[in-house]
Amino acid sequence: MAANTRRVKSVEDSIRDTDEPEHRLKKNLSGLDLTVFGVGVIIGTGIFVLTGLVARDQAGPAVAISFVIAGVVCGLAALCYAEFASTVPVAGSAYTFSYATFGEFVAWIIGWDLVLELALGAATVSVGWSGYLNQLLDDLGMALPTSIAGETASFNIPAMVIALAMTAVLVLGIKLSSRVTAVIVAIKLAVVLLVIVVGLFYVSADNYSPFIPPAEPLAEGESGLHTPLVQLLGFAQGSFGWSGVLAGAAIVFFAFIGFDIVATAAEETRNPGRDLPRGIIGSLAICTTLYVAVSLVVVGMQEYTELSADAPLAGAFAANGLTFFSSVISLGALAGLTSVVMILMLGQSRVLFAMSRDHLLPGGLARVHPRYGTPYKITIATGAVVALLAGLVPLTALAELVNIGTLFAFLLVSVGVWRLRRTRPDLERTFRVPFVQVLPWVSAAACLWLMANLPVDTWLRFLVWMLIGIVIYFVYGRGHSRMATGERVPASTGGKDISRA
Ligand code: ALA
Repeated sequence: MAANTRRVKSVEDSIRDTDEPEHRLKKNLSGLDLTVFGVGVIIGTGIFVLTGLVARDQAGPAVAISFVIAGVVCGLAALCYAEFASTVPVAGSAYTFSYATFGEFVAWIIGWDLVLELALGAATVSVGWSGYLNQLLDDLGMALPTSIAGETASFNIPAMVIALAMTAVLVLGIKLSSRVTAVIVAIKLAVVLLVIVVGLFYVSADNYSPFIPPAEPLAEGESGLHTPLVQLLGFAQGSFGWSGVLAGAAIVFFAFIGFDIVATAAEETRNPGRDLPRGIIGSLAICTTLYVAVSLVVVGMQEYTELSADAPLAGAFAANGLTFFSSVISLGALAGLTSVVMILMLGQSRVLFAMSRDHLLPGGLARVHPRYGTPYKITIATGAVVALLAGLVPLTALAELVNIGTLFAFLLVSVGVWRLRRTRPDLERTFRVPFVQVLPWVSAAACLWLMANLPVDTWLRFLVWMLIGIVIYFVYGRGHSRMATGERVPASTGGKDISRA
C-alpha cells in the first residue's frame, strides 16, 4: 500500500497531459497579466480589514512590523514557488508539484488542503464583500436587512450573488477574466495610493508612540482552545510587545495569500519559464511595499486603540473629517474584494482540474469547453460550492483555517524544491532558488512557526479536514487514479524509483 501511495507522476508526464486536446487550456497570459492577477488576488480583506484588528488587539502601530515579518516569510516561499513553477509549468500548483516530488498521496493531501485556501478563502472574502456592500448601501441610506446581507447574515444573498457572478466570468474565458481583473486592480491600486498619499498629510507623530506597546498577558477567559498553539507548548504569548507583533504576523499573513495562485495559471502562460517568476515575485514585492506604507499611514492617522475593526482605512479618514475619501475607499475596497473572490475561484478550479485530469477525482469533470477553452464543469462546481458556503456558513472562525491550509502548502512546496533538485537535477530550471541547501528549509521552518502562532481550535479543524481527505483518497482516488489503471506509469526519479522506496 505504501508503494501505491508514493507513486510519482513524472514532470514529463505532467507536461504531456497539458497537450491532450480535450484538456488543453488556451495560452493567453503574459508576465504583466500574471503580475496583475497576483496583485488582484493579494490585496483584499487583509489590508482593508485586518490592519485595524491587528493594530488594535495585538501589535499597536508595530502592525507595520507584522506586515514586514509576514512579507519576509512569504518572500522565502515565493522564491520556492518561482522555481517550481518555472520547472513544472502545469495547472494545479502545489498539487502537481507534489505529485512529481513526493508522490500521489502527498499530492492528494496538498490538493485537498488547497480547498481550505482557495474555496474557503473565496467564500470568506465573499462574505466580507457583502459586509462592505451593506456599509456602502447604509451610507446611501438603503441598507439591506442584516439577516440577508453583511458579515452576520444567516442567508447571505450578496455573498452568493458575487460568487455566482464571478463564476460566470470565469466560464466565459480567461482573457475576459484578466481584462476584468485589470480594471479592478487599477481601481484598487488607485485607492491604496490615495490612502498613502492623502493620508500622509494627516499623520501625527504622537500616534506612533509607543510604537510597540508594552506586552500584556492574555486576560482570564482568553486562554483555552482559541489560544495560539505556541502558548500551549509553553512559549510566552499575549497581546502587544514582541509576541503580539509575531502573533499579528500569523494573522496578517492572510493579506499575502494569492501570490502562489499565479502558479496555478502556469498552463495558460505564453512563456512560463520567464513570466511565472516575474509574476510571482513582482506581485508580492509590490504588495509588501504597499502594505507597509498603508499600515504606517493608517496607524499614524488615528490612535491604534481607536481604529475601526470593520473598515479601518475608511474609518481613519472619517476620523480626520475626510468623509468623501472614506466613501471612495469603501467603494475601492468593494471593487478590490471582487477580484480576490474571482481569482481564488480561478485557482481552485485549476487545482481541481488537474486532480480530475489525473482521475483522483472523476475524470469527466476535467473537460474543457469547446468554445471558451475553460474547464467549465469544474468552474461551475467550484462556484456552486463557494456560493453555498458563502451564503449559509458563518465563516468568521473558519477564516483562520485559510491561513493554516495555505501555510501547510507553502511548507511542502519549500521542501519539495529542495527534494526535486536532488531527485531530478537534470530538469531545466529557468529560475533557481539561491542557497538551495538552506533557503527552502528556512522557508519551511518559518511557515511552521507561523502555523504554530494560530489557535489550537484551528489546528483541530485542520486535522479533521485532512482526515476526511485521507478517507476519500483511500475509498476513491487510490483505485481510480490514472497511475492505478495503468494509463500512466509511475516515474522513476533520476534513476531512483521512489515509488518503491
Ligand atoms: N490576500 C487576500 C486578501 O487579503 C486573500 O483578501
